[in-house]
Amino acid sequence: MDYSQLQKECIACTRCGLCRTRTHVVFGAGPKDAPILFVGEGPGYHEDQEGVPFVGKSGQLLDHYLGAIDLDRSKNVYITNIVKCRPPENRDPMAEESAACLDWLREQFRIIRPRIVVCLGRVAAQQLIGRDFSMTRQHGQFIEKGGVWFTATYHPAALLRAPDKKPEAFEDFIALRTKIRQVCPQAYE
Ligand code: URA
Ligand code: SF4
Repeated sequence: MDYSQLQKECIACTRCGLCRTRTHVVFGAGPKDAPILFVGEGPGYHEDQEGVPFVGKSGQLLDHYLGAIDLDRSKNVYITNIVKCRPPENRDPMAEESAACLDWLREQFRIIRPRIVVCLGRVAAQQLIGRDFSMTRQHGQFIEKGGVWFTATYHPAALLRAPDKKPEAFEDFIALRTKIRQVCPQAYE
């Protein structure tokens, strides 16, 4: 299946209950051959309205961090979420919702073939890195799985609530830039 076919099927998805309350499925955005994949938790209000990931306040902060290390969602990063439909009242996705939606992410992964995956927040990190992932202890660390490097940093929404964590997040992005230069320098060409 190619990218546009996958997107077409995903935006019609009814595999979990979140389909009943969504306005738009938020499939993902960015070049479909991006070497770096960012994965958030799930759409919020503005993302649900527009069908685009990270367009609200969190998205503005994310773009600021991306820009600081010369990344750009229209050029070298693809952005998506663990669940593609907004959980009501922005609650955490339930285990069965994440499980149902993970097949879409797997297919995106197969097509995009990123070299580096950056989890934004605990929900994504616990799904993609490890069930016991602790953001406080493990943010900014890289682990390799099958030739792909995984890391996690604080969710931008968490940084808006706790700005004292911003310097740590900034360091994570600097570490990301170093990793990109090592494993996929073409991202910067
Ligand atoms: N928060 C997320 O986790 N994802 C978005 O797309 C927007 C806000
Ligand atoms: Fe389908 Fe994912 Fe939306 Fe659930 S959250 S309906 S699995 S696209």
